[in-house]
Amino acid sequence: MDCIEIEGGMPLHGEIPISGAKNAALPLMVASLLTDEALHLSNVPHLADITSLANILAQHGVEIDVQREGGDIGGDVVVMRAAEITSTTAPYDLVRKMRASFWVIGPLVARCGHAIVSLPGGCAIGTRPVDLHLMGLERLGAEIELAEGYVTARAPKGLVGNEVEFPFVSVGATVNLMLAASLAKGETVLRNVACEPEVTDLATCLIAMGAKIEGLGTRKLRIQGVERLSGARHRVLPDRIETGTYAMAVAAAGGEVVLKNGVGRLNSAVIRVLKQAGVEVTEVANGLQLIKNGARHKGVDIETEAFPGFPTDLQAQFMALMATCEGTSKIRETIFENRFMHVPELARMGAQISVDGDCATVTGIERLKGAPVMATDLRASVSLVIAALGAEGLTSVNRVYHLDRGFERLEEKLSAVGATIRRVRA
Ligand code: UD1
Repeated sequence: MDCIEIEGGMPLHGEIPISGAKNAALPLMVASLLTDEALHLSNVPHLADITSLANILAQHGVEIDVQREGGDIGGDVVVMRAAEITSTTAPYDLVRKMRASFWVIGPLVARCGHAIVSLPGGCAIGTRPVDLHLMGLERLGAEIELAEGYVTARAPKGLVGNEVEFPFVSVGATVNLMLAASLAKGETVLRNVACEPEVTDLATCLIAMGAKIEGLGTRKLRIQGVERLSGARHRVLPDRIETGTYAMAVAAAGGEVVLKNGVGRLNSAVIRVLKQAGVEVTEVANGLQLIKNGARHKGVDIETEAFPGFPTDLQAQFMALMATCEGTSKIRETIFENRFMHVPELARMGAQISVDGDCATVTGIERLKGAPVMATDLRASVSLVIAALGAEGLTSVNRVYHLDRGFERLEEKLSAVGATIRRVRA
């Protein structure tokens, strides 16, 4: 298995291009199942998760063509055409690799009247059930059955619009229901939905495909089902999690970097917190500029929340940054249980962190020390990279396939701004 080696202590200078958002590209790709016409997506990041989803879509009958886009952002143009759905079954072997693949169930049952989809796998961050997805589909008239690790959804006469109130905010359930309701008969009102920018990006693309959706960016979506959707062209929005991750990398290592294409309004909670910690963040013409001088950053408390709050997908990275803060920082994880698996790995580098239920208290130390560490999930793995960039000596991060699921050309982007980082191929 590959590992990544980082020699810490080098400040970062220059520009880091921000790729298209993985968490937007995935639901957008799933939307291709809703139409027999071609869906063109550009600025799609080149990542293992995208390939996993493409494999699932291909076995449902979607023809997929991928071409590299020019320029320094380096995304892909992905053209998908589901002229005919050849299979409505998503097998365990493919779905277990990534939780987002469960999203095929909504569009398949909406278009074909039935779907059999394996219960998902994905990052090991808590139990992550799909009960809200299934409750929503049932409200639209689908009959749901669970057996032997598979969900069967049937709606032979098509889905019918209805009111769906989510008991708490779920990105995935919002995506699934939005996809399904677009082709249901009549009106669906979804309440207490996620308003993450990636959800809004999907809604924008669905509208370009002919869907009738109101309430974008709010907690209530009103969807008038249409009989058919057409193809469309859509550019994936920049990745706010990648933006926040590199912002924290600069904060940990020091230096001056422009995150090219980074968008301030997608990252306002993170920018606020970084400023409180003593990092200079400025919106510039081509992105976001980060400046961090040699002084230690201050401890800041955070709590993860649904958008527009501080994202859970940046919690681990922020903890790595706080490991060397002045004072203490309390970090509360409210979205996922069991999302502190990076704590023992950061402790191997000298971090002083105690965990009590959903709250971690970080007592900052002057400097972390390099060590061999292990990636446990996608965002946890990149938190170790951030810790290593600011640490003294050599860190080797093992199990980097987690990183490859979600960060495009990480070593290339970081070494271009002066980090000493390399991949050691097994
Ligand atoms: C998406 C993101 C992930 C991010 C998360 C929260 C993608 C591909 N993934 O994941 O990176 O960390 O949003 O911003 O976009 N839940 C239930 N029942 C359900 C659905 C969810 O109990 O049916 C729970 C989950 O276990 C979790 C919480 O709700 O505790 C939020 O999950 P959700 O927003 O659905 O996350 P994902 O869509 O899986």
